Amino acid sequence: MNSADLVAGAEALVETGRKTIAGASSLAELDAAERTLLGKASPLNEIREAIKSVDAGDRAAVGQAMNAAREALTEALAARRDALRADERAAALVHDRLDLTIGGREYRRGHLHPVTRIWRELEDVFVGMGYTVAEGPEVETDWYNFEALNFPPGHPARAMQDTLYVKLGKPEEVMLRTHTSPVQVRVMETRRPPIYIVAPGRTFRRDTLDARHSPVFHQIEGLAVDRGITLGDLLGTIEAFIHALFGPNIQARFTPSFFPFTEPSAEFAMTCVFCEGAGCTVCSRTGWVELGGCGMVDPNVFEAVNIDPEEYTGFAFGFGIDRVAQLLYGIDHVKNIWDGDIRFAAQF
Ligand code: PHE
Repeated sequence: MNSADLVAGAEALVETGRKTIAGASSLAELDAAERTLLGKASPLNEIREAIKSVDAGDRAAVGQAMNAAREALTEALAARRDALRADERAAALVHDRLDLTIGGREYRRGHLHPVTRIWRELEDVFVGMGYTVAEGPEVETDWYNFEALNFPPGHPARAMQDTLYVKLGKPEEVMLRTHTSPVQVRVMETRRPPIYIVAPGRTFRRDTLDARHSPVFHQIEGLAVDRGITLGDLLGTIEAFIHALFGPNIQARFTPSFFPFTEPSAEFAMTCVFCEGAGCTVCSRTGWVELGGCGMVDPNVFEAVNIDPEEYTGFAFGFGIDRVAQLLYGIDHVKNIWDGDIRFAAQF
């Protein structure tokens, strides 16, 4: 072949090669085109082989034409590759596009149980008055639930609290705590006055379920031990928390009572929040709602925990959290508190 034909051949290759490259519609097609245009079996390689048979003086011209063709095709391939990549990215963007106008699946928010809410509100009120929160176990021993609280063995006051015993140790030695008062003992055994604590928690009694009683319920205990604590401090503290929780129109009322671990002892009630004292079905037309018990810490309790009753005095109180929740939220039957029906909790 003569050199002019070879140069023309190289130029023609560029011409047809460009068309092939332009026609590649995917990166895979373009790779295939690259192999045919520039690979080992390509026409360009044939030209290279043919150079050997060309007159020595003409070889440079053919070589230049061949290199120019290779460069032109390489450039065209690169440009097409860029274009195809950009197209693929654009297609991926369209494919992966998020339509933010569609809206999502609806998740319902969780909801605090009314008892949990009152529990936390009570903690807040007392923490605001300088108390800290203490805890004790739900399974207690006779010492903490009764004995250290001045209930001697066989004392009739034990019968006031229908106890659920656990089969552990000696008979009637281990029990589900019948009140939160054992936390008083646990705190006083481990800390020295001044002590200002509240202890909310779960308590248990062998009660039959009715509108107002459940064998599982919640109490909150309060204990203040310091120098010079008086009955006036107790009354003022209870009045303060009732006002904080229910407002200034709701009064506290104290009536003498008996608990082995306090002396003197009282039961306390508050003005019925529904009728504001006028009398309604919630308060059995008395205008008052019973909340719990309180009193000055009995010296015998101080002695059981090695606190000198000559140096320190204190007061304690305890009342039902569920009762407060029932009152505040108008819950007619305690069973609603324990059913765990989300529709119930979501109302509050
Ligand atoms: N623990 C008593 C009860 O459950 C209540 C109480 C607590 C009374 C503290 C006096 C002092 O009945």
